Amino acid sequence: MTTTITITGAGGQIGYALLFRIAAGDLLGPDEKVRLRLLEIPQGLGAAEGAALELQDGAFGLLEDVEVTDAAATGFDGCDLALLVGARPRGPGMERGDLLAANGGIFGPQGRAIAENAAPGVRVTVVGNPANTNALIAAASAEGVPAERFSALTRLDENRARAQLAQTLGMPVDTVRRVPIWGNHSASQFPDISHATVAGLPASEALAKIVGDVPTWLEQTFIPRVAKRGAEIIQVRGSSSVASAASATIDHVRDWALGTDDWTSAAVVSHGEYGVPEGLISSFPVRSIDGEWHVVEGLEIDDWARTRIDASVAELVEERDAVRALGLL
Ligand code: NAI
Repeated sequence: MTTTITITGAGGQIGYALLFRIAAGDLLGPDEKVRLRLLEIPQGLGAAEGAALELQDGAFGLLEDVEVTDAAATGFDGCDLALLVGARPRGPGMERGDLLAANGGIFGPQGRAIAENAAPGVRVTVVGNPANTNALIAAASAEGVPAERFSALTRLDENRARAQLAQTLGMPVDTVRRVPIWGNHSASQFPDISHATVAGLPASEALAKIVGDVPTWLEQTFIPRVAKRGAEIIQVRGSSSVASAASATIDHVRDWALGTDDWTSAAVVSHGEYGVPEGLISSFPVRSIDGEWHVVEGLEIDDWARTRIDASVAELVEERDAVRALGLL
């Protein structure tokens, strides 16, 4: 079988890190061929065309075809999986309203082009920031495509949280599970360890033995470290997180397409779960079954976690209201 995958912003940094892993079979496994459509704006076409030449030189057995275009109708033609990476970054002096409006000008038309051209079962992952609200705009513009087919990336935040927890506990990262991200992919996000397990046992008990006062460690060390990890990478590396963002994108899309054996995190459309207003695209603990995200329901949320979740969701409500006021919804 062959899956058609559209990557917007394919000439950018995350695109460059993503393409070769997809072509190598990291996304859909060693038996699924892929057809790539790289959608760029005219200024980005050269970089995308260069990446296409390098993909050819990679001699990937799974890669059936690569097409580079700046026409959305061609880019999304027959697409099964859309990875919306290209977005307008915040420029100097740009207000939040300007940023939302500029991205509305990208994600609205892309949502329409997906509805008109993509395969009937298309699944859309939004990476470009502000990811949750860009996904909301794209979903609202994609008439006839259920909102459940859109999700935004918070897996990088979850991977960062699991890695920090594993490092603190001195345990391999794959023994740490169930660390969901709630809310917005922004500094207000809430990485939640209250249900986390390490090697199958409650992480908070193991953590108390190491850090002592767990609530203080969460407030002062863990949550700020996870939420500000992007800034830390920029400071140390001199450039933003690219390979880890691409890797998290692979994790997210692979789990969506192939299923999960435990919880993960994704920003998905709310049906009112945990009091999150219906229609918002908010991060939740989720499972993926038969190509559908399902919010993990029935978790106990204490008052402290409730306050954190509410604060991040309030930010999403503000963003939604701002794009509504701009006529983008
Ligand atoms: P980049 O600036 O290197 O690349 C962006 C590319 O998108 C450029 O090649 C540009 O020409 C293209 N582009 C802009 N508008 C477009 C449009 N309308 N259609 C198609 N392509 C378009 O940026 P980078 O580092 O690749 O990051 C991409 C996005 O991912 C940014 O918005 C960044 O903030 C976001 N990001 C999200 C993360 C998450 O966890 N959700 C993590 C890291 C980055």
